[in-house]
Amino acid sequence: MTREMLPKTSSRNQLEDALDVDVEDLQTLGTFIINTAKDEDTSDLSILIQSIGTSCKYIANCVRKLGLANGKLGGKAGTENVQGEEQMKLDLVAHEVFSRGLDRSGRCTVMVSEEVEELIPCASSPHGRYVCVFDPLDGSSNIDCSVSIGSIFGIYKATERGVFNPKDALQPGKDMVAAGYALYGSACNLVLTIGGCVYGFTLDSSLGEFVLTHPKIRVPPSGNIYSINEGNSKFWDAGMANYVNHVKNIQDPPRSLRYIGSMVADVHRTLLYGGTFSYPSDSKSKDGKLRTLYECFPMAYIMEKAGGAASDGKNRILDITPHHIHQRSPIHMGSAEDVKEIERFLTEQ
Ligand code: AHG
Ligand code: MN
Ligand code: MN
Repeated sequence: MTREMLPKTSSRNQLEDALDVDVEDLQTLGTFIINTAKDEDTSDLSILIQSIGTSCKYIANCVRKLGLANGKLGGKAGTENVQGEEQMKLDLVAHEVFSRGLDRSGRCTVMVSEEVEELIPCASSPHGRYVCVFDPLDGSSNIDCSVSIGSIFGIYKATERGVFNPKDALQPGKDMVAAGYALYGSACNLVLTIGGCVYGFTLDSSLGEFVLTHPKIRVPPSGNIYSINEGNSKFWDAGMANYVNHVKNIQDPPRSLRYIGSMVADVHRTLLYGGTFSYPSDSKSKDGKLRTLYECFPMAYIMEKAGGAASDGKNRILDITPHHIHQRSPIHMGSAEDVKEIERFLTEQ
């Protein structure tokens, strides 16, 4: 049946009405990334991203089943990661799913995971040409109360195809070739950039596919929401305290505070609605909390590609050259005008 044979009623055609879906622009993550594969290089990257998409679907399933799985997926694992943080069972499951998927993709030489102290060489990728850094499960403290959580990833090119070079995992953020995150929220979204625009997909569980729903996402130039853990305010320096005080006193329109405590969820809202997300330096944690390589870099890369900004308070996040795979960085990201204003307050002291 051709499209012409389906007369349009309102904005849908008869088939769309019958199925109760809009199929006119149906594009899955699979077709989207295959269409971006212009040469041998990008086809390797497409395969890598396909494998990440599958891992995210697998984790989304685990998240949905978590409360029904008789404690097999929920709760603490009884172990700690390299940062001394308690690991949850889902942290470990998500790490296994991500790392096995990347290894089997055959396109990755080395990986960095929040959950593993050392670099992870990819045993089954003798010809891999990419490096993948990831936070398999972001927002661990929200796992057991059904609040939104996510996964974050960033991809670099390896210096030499099939060669495990530890230095490849310490490239500046601006040298990433792709980055993305999955949000396991009221819907499951996958947000992705392969260096151009930022695209958002929504998981259609009846199809088992990520469907393109948010083409060419642009973060508003300024916004009315700020997002920061105010429980740490006693440790803030004067610049940070003055900025938050200033924001609270803006009248027209008044600003709102929103803080979920899962970076993926807080940044996703910031990307769509505008405003800022901050995890600043303070007297307790000079470098903030969030990890440069697999939390700050991918989110900063996405934010910039969507027209926003990401700063450590003084300098662009993506200009940092990391010296350790698990190092941390303060971060302020979101609408470009609002991030500039934060920088002004932080550098005026
Ligand atoms: P993770 O679960 O991967 O360790 O990350 C948690 C992070 C991040 O998601 C969030 O923005 C931040 O921790 C929240 O920290 P606070 O509870 O200190 O506000
Ligand atoms: Mn995290
Ligand atoms: Mn994590």
